[in-house]
Amino acid sequence: MTDIVESLNTFSQKFNADLEKCFPFVDGAENRVIEAMKYSVMNGGKRLRPYLLCECAGLFGVPYEMAFKAAASLEMLHSYSLIHDDLPAMDNDDLRRGKPTCHKQFDEATAILAGDGLLTYAFEYLANALEIRPEMRLTLLQLLASAAGSFGGMVSGQTLDIYAVPTGSKEADEAIIARLEEMKTGRLLRYACEAGAVLGQAPLPLRQILISYSRKIGQAFQIADDILDREGDQKLVGKTLHKDDSQNKFTFVAYYGIEPARQKAAELVQQAVAEIAVFGSKAENLQKLAQYIIDRKY
Ligand code: IPE
Ligand code: IPE
Ligand code: MG
Ligand code: MG
Ligand code: MG
Repeated sequence: MTDIVESLNTFSQKFNADLEKCFPFVDGAENRVIEAMKYSVMNGGKRLRPYLLCECAGLFGVPYEMAFKAAASLEMLHSYSLIHDDLPAMDNDDLRRGKPTCHKQFDEATAILAGDGLLTYAFEYLANALEIRPEMRLTLLQLLASAAGSFGGMVSGQTLDIYAVPTGSKEADEAIIARLEEMKTGRLLRYACEAGAVLGQAPLPLRQILISYSRKIGQAFQIADDILDREGDQKLVGKTLHKDDSQNKFTFVAYYGIEPARQKAAELVQQAVAEIAVFGSKAENLQKLAQYIIDRKY
């Protein structure tokens, strides 16, 4: 695990330095929202989605400078989703990435606006990425919108996360949990991998393999998140724990129990690792990342 942690750290240092430059100072009282956006983006996220995107693009020889534009816009969008997820009307969380949540640090109106600002800026930033050919950029914009949106995307997943209730039928409940997790978490991770394939002009079968890998690690990732909520160390996790049970969240862990959930996540990772073996040694980091996703402590 140490070398994947090192690789992620090295990547994050460079990525963070580049990301910070995306937020110039605005001379006016409206700079408050930029400050809140920056506060929420530049506050120690793991940068898993940008890493995934750049690694997948790297399989096809795409240079970092080009992949960065797509990776930065994805991380902006992800950060928006966290700000809104933490709002009192949603999960009502005080702690994010070890620091006060955006609405605690600023106020609720600023947090809503900072989320709106990041969501919008993600698309503006990607649309302006001249390093990426126009038709590729359009494909990425479409894929990102669909991954984040309300027709089977993250917004749909967040809706189920808040409003889904057990039906009493085992099969129906299992299907709801799988769909909920796939949409709220899986779709952005899938976008990360698919964007790498688009940038690399990957042949369809290879793109499909990356999509399949992403779906497996996506589910494993959310199971790991739910396990950490149950039994993580709050200082490391950087979020208030035991929220899922107290808010009656419909999670894999709540439904099946912790051990079956752990086992399921491990199986998914094993399958994901096997699937990308076709890429040979170039996919080593992606294989290690899959394992890291379930071994991580935060
Ligand atoms: C948290 O994502 C939100 C979920 C989808 C569970 P991460 O665990 O990747 O959060 P950061 O970006 O590292 O803070
Ligand atoms: C949130 O899931 C997923 C998002 C789309 C932001 P959670 O509510 O479980 O994420 P955490 O635990 O607050 O990071
Ligand atoms: Mg939530
Ligand atoms: Mg939450
Ligand atoms: Mg969670």
